[in-house]
Amino acid sequence: MSDLFHAELHELRAQSLYRKLREIGSAQAAEVQIVGGRVINFSSNDYLGLANDPLLRDAATAAIAEFGVGAGASRLVSGTLSPHVRLEAALARWKGTQAALSFSSGYAAAVGTLQAIAGKNDVVLLDKLSHASLIDGAKLSGATIRLFPHNHLGKLESHLEWARQEHANGKVVIATEAVFSRDGDRAPLRQLVGLKKRFGALLLLDEAHSVGVLGPNGRGLSAHEGLTKHVDIHLGTLSKAFGTSGGYICGSRSLIEWLINRARSFIFTTAPPPALAAAARAAVDFLASPAGDECRLLLWQRIAGLRSGLEGGVQQETEAMRFGSAIHPLIVGDEAEAVELSRSLYAEGFLVPAIRYPTVAKGAARLRITVTAAHTEQQISRLVEAVNRLRPDVTLAA
Ligand SMILES: Cc1ncc(COP(=O)(O)O)c(C=O)c1O
Repeated sequence: MSDLFHAELHELRAQSLYRKLREIGSAQAAEVQIVGGRVINFSSNDYLGLANDPLLRDAATAAIAEFGVGAGASRLVSGTLSPHVRLEAALARWKGTQAALSFSSGYAAAVGTLQAIAGKNDVVLLDKLSHASLIDGAKLSGATIRLFPHNHLGKLESHLEWARQEHANGKVVIATEAVFSRDGDRAPLRQLVGLKKRFGALLLLDEAHSVGVLGPNGRGLSAHEGLTKHVDIHLGTLSKAFGTSGGYICGSRSLIEWLINRARSFIFTTAPPPALAAAARAAVDFLASPAGDECRLLLWQRIAGLRSGLEGGVQQETEAMRFGSAIHPLIVGDEAEAVELSRSLYAEGFLVPAIRYPTVAKGAARLRITVTAAHTEQQISRLVEAVNRLRPDVTLAA
């Protein structure tokens, strides 16, 4: 028994593909406490530095005082407490949709929504780099699944033509990420909207890594491009820029009513703790405020600082904002070299994870740098100096 998977694990280590957990002994912040010292954290999705913000802590504490810790039941039984309802109203108002529904995670929101909106007579078309939650949801729906190469509009178009012919009476759902979690690049949203309209498909957009980062009031890529009304299903997580935990769907009232009645990951689980909903609502209110926009602008200044430092030359935040995101892949290639660079940076006090196969193809290993508004200018320039000294040959992906 004790030797279970011993050979397989040995093989992973030999290929520099072994992963292990790392314990953080402090709250999420630009600098965190790890066993053996403090490091500057360039691996967090806490893009606006809200995870340990007094605004959210106070909202959670006040909700604990009023509503306790556990929700006690599933949402449809007796677990819908006022903080859940207030959060959903705030999300819909902020996003500019008729309604919203919160889930216990972004994963649950994706899986439950796809399973609820698509069935065996339908087709789900997925970008090949879509997050696992979209893929799992599509599988669970029983719909026919077709993947299209990353951001490949031509292939998507031919899948749509095929779907319309072969599943004339079924629904066709296009599901993709707005900002891709792996490399931080964006979906060609305007063209996707054009295609979904031409073929009468539904568009589900996962804005996990774009809300809080892009668009007025951090409303994501759809708002950044003025296309909010053209996206049928807005999916997001509360665990990244919102600094809390949970997921949500924003969309039409009838979509939300359908999910309340059919999304299994919403129905068959205890409601999220009310304090989390209260903290998330405080985060939504913050994003919707001028202070939220200032914080977002600060994030873009830091992003521009990182890119200027690693690419040479000066990049302004407005320039960075045109194509970028908070995620910056530093392409190394070889798995062992990527792990070695990550280790060397760690030894100098920077936490920058190496991303390897199977997350990316073999030989395409990279370091994934995430920048937050909580980083100081000096922390960014120290990282830039260390990377440029340790590996002057590696480059950021465009
Ligand atoms: C693109 C994307 N979608 C969905 C999720 C799931 O969100 P959550 O962590 O809230 O389950 C994540 C992150 O984990 C993600 O990166």
